Amino acid sequence: MRITKAAFVGSSTRVEQKPARKLPEFAFIGRSNVGKSSLINMLAGNSKLAKTSQTPGKTQLVNHFLINDNWYLVDLPGYGYARLPDRERARLRHIIWDYINRSGELVMLFVLLDSRHDMQEVDLCFISELGEKGIPFAIIFTKGDKQGPTVLAAQVEKNKARLLEDWEELPPVFVSSSVTGAGKEEIVNYIGTVLQTL
Ligand code: GTP
Ligand code: MG
Repeated sequence: MRITKAAFVGSSTRVEQKPARKLPEFAFIGRSNVGKSSLINMLAGNSKLAKTSQTPGKTQLVNHFLINDNWYLVDLPGYGYARLPDRERARLRHIIWDYINRSGELVMLFVLLDSRHDMQEVDLCFISELGEKGIPFAIIFTKGDKQGPTVLAAQVEKNKARLLEDWEELPPVFVSSSVTGAGKEEIVNYIGTVLQTL
């Protein structure tokens, strides 16, 4: 599949406010600053589509982007940003879970993890919550350009092994870089094959 058209449609804090046109949704989630918005821009081939920032906590709303006129990429706020006041973090958590629990069109979530680091407790908790609720997900290790291939591969293997401590089998796993475009073809093709099964 190729993405030939991408357009911002709207922002929401509650499912009732999301775009009226119901189409399959593929959403991106992960810790603040992991690169969700950058990855959406990279996949869509438009660096100005979703707002990105060096400062964590940039995306505060659920943002729908209409792709090829027949499905949505959905950019979500990050979870687990320690420096936010408790009340703010709870507010973002509420927005995220309202969307995940109640959007009838959500096909699957891509959970983004920084390819340089060990998965953190907050990532493992989030993924285990998805498991409990039976929400389909895939994993994307982001910022793959920040390390050489050998170190990158070793860190990815370490995180996969950690996942296998909790799960009998791995979900689909991708490695991406919003700088080099690595992972684009694999992720877009994967979405294409999932769309064909709907
Ligand atoms: P929040 O909206 O705050 O939750 O963050 P986010 O996950 O949307 O992250 P965002 O895309 O805004 O990127 C955060 C920072 O990481 C920005 O400075 C990006 O330029 C940088 N970044 C994102 N992806 C990559 C990548 O693949 N490689 C490199 N080198 N930098 C990246
Ligand atoms: Mg963002």
